[in-house]
Amino acid sequence: MDSDTLKQRAAERALAYVKPGMRLGLGTGSTAAKFVDVLGAKVADGLDVICVPTSEATHKQAQALGIPLATLGEQPELDLTVDGADELDDALRLIKGGGGALLREKIVAAASERMVVIADDSKLVAKLGAFPLPIEIAAFGWQATLDKVRTVARDFGCEGDVGVRGTQANPFVTDGGNYIADCAFGTINDPEQLALVLSIIPGVVEHGLFIGLANSAVIAGADGVEVLGEAT
Ligand code: A5P
Repeated sequence: MDSDTLKQRAAERALAYVKPGMRLGLGTGSTAAKFVDVLGAKVADGLDVICVPTSEATHKQAQALGIPLATLGEQPELDLTVDGADELDDALRLIKGGGGALLREKIVAAASERMVVIADDSKLVAKLGAFPLPIEIAAFGWQATLDKVRTVARDFGCEGDVGVRGTQANPFVTDGGNYIADCAFGTINDPEQLALVLSIIPGVVEHGLFIGLANSAVIAGADGVEVLGEAT
């Protein structure tokens, strides 16, 4: 079964978490986009929700579908965020940011009472780290920030290629005007500690380790849809 179909199934199953009147965070990426599509169909059928998108791309998609939108300033407390992930483990720890939206994704997830991750089963791993960890960094002095990231990560047993996304002449720029460092650390043995030390580096705006944010994960595989954590 192709991954597009699996993402679609996960997105459809996640509708079970949505109740009328909810304030929702809308994630970013190809899986989250499928959820926005299925939610849009429900809204067209009369479902009453108000949504905060995590990226300009999601904003555009949701707006085109007629989904009522708000800023996080207007709706600072959300009931539920539904978003994808680049990797997750069975403790519901995530790597996010493959699409470059991790800063807004984390702010929105943290403003939500619950977060549901939707993914195909290729994203579920025994240990995080095969997917290069994205870190959003300030454009100012980004080379110095990358040096610090390398040094600090090495002290925690994480070594590997750390580079800015895009090219040096034409770096990828996030919705917040920052750069993304992709860090090919390989297995991350202690995600909590790595998250802590990365957070205190000046120039690191936010890292893509999402720990203690997800309550559930809806994982679609060839044999069906499995739910980790809270089922509804
Ligand atoms: C966006 O910044 C990311 O965090 C995405 O949620 C993540 O990359 C998953 O994307 P896909 O659903 O496209 O794999």
